[in-house]
Amino acid sequence: MNQTVLVTGACGGIGKALCKRFLTAGYSLVCVDQSYVQLQALKQAFSNTPSKIYCIKQDLRKPDSPTLIYEEVKRQNLNIDILVNAAGFGIYGDFLDQGIEENQALIDVNISGLMKLCHLFAADMKERGSGTIINFSSISAFFPGKLMSGYYASKAFVLSFSIALAEELKKYNIRVLAICPDVIDTPFYEKAHADRLHSHLLNRLKPKKVSTFSKKAFKAIQHRRYYVLIGLRAKLLVFFSIFVPKRIQVKIIGFIQAKVKKNS
Ligand SMILES: NC(=O)c1ccc[n+]([C@@H]2O[C@H](COP(=O)([O-])OP(=O)(O)OC[C@H]3O[C@@H](n4cnc5c(N)ncnc54)[C@H](OP(=O)(O)O)[C@@H]3O)[C@@H](O)[C@H]2O)c1
Repeated sequence: MNQTVLVTGACGGIGKALCKRFLTAGYSLVCVDQSYVQLQALKQAFSNTPSKIYCIKQDLRKPDSPTLIYEEVKRQNLNIDILVNAAGFGIYGDFLDQGIEENQALIDVNISGLMKLCHLFAADMKERGSGTIINFSSISAFFPGKLMSGYYASKAFVLSFSIALAEELKKYNIRVLAICPDVIDTPFYEKAHADRLHSHLLNRLKPKKVSTFSKKAFKAIQHRRYYVLIGLRAKLLVFFSIFVPKRIQVKIIGFIQAKVKKNS
């Protein structure tokens, strides 16, 4: 295998599991994340593979970070065959209790950073006449998310953007796929303060193993276009959502991820 894949959020639960699968399949890897220490640990964890691994430390909240990532890739003389945008985060709680700066950062990472990376790398793919772009959306893209309003809306953007891009870039032999996981067991929920201490979400929707998820996601990455829902539960939830008005959906989501009441 002589192909190179760039993964943002490479040190995260899903990013790392996918990196492992790409390495096993013989791809070279460009791992992007915001922590130097975590990137070094990742490189160390993968040190027994013959494939080449490059690490780029960038904080995708910064507007110029996608350009800096692109320039570093060029400096290393690499061509990116597959771009995987897995970096992302959520914020749980009442919108008015969240800082607006935190919500702006969420837009910067989940939307702007992803869009800029697509723009930069798709231009090269167009020139070469092939490429694949994988964007991490979520099952949340299909629902309005009370208590995670900004996060759900950001994933709706990613889904819509990716489907449109998939259609536009088809003629250049570029395949675009939005992956929509439901609830996967990663540090995502703890970081978002949506873990069992704060939210009923993980009690009401049992998290799936990241290894099982990554196996199915990796298979979809090889062939699928537009978007993919991973697992039967995700498919059923989205199927039933067709029959439920948004104003009812928002109440159901509000119930599923209701706050855990603190005993005082
Ligand atoms: N887990 C789920 O159930 C689930 C469900 C649906 C969709 N998703 C989506 O799947 C993707 C991967 O999620 P995950 O579960 O693997 O989450 P995760 O374990 O929290 O991993 C996310 C990764 O993105 C990195 N990241 C966050 N902000 C960044 C920034 N400003 N610059 C660079 N890197 C940044 C994180 O770094 P730090 O650790 O330093 O923050 C982390 O390594 C995300 O887009 C998420 O929204 C996840």
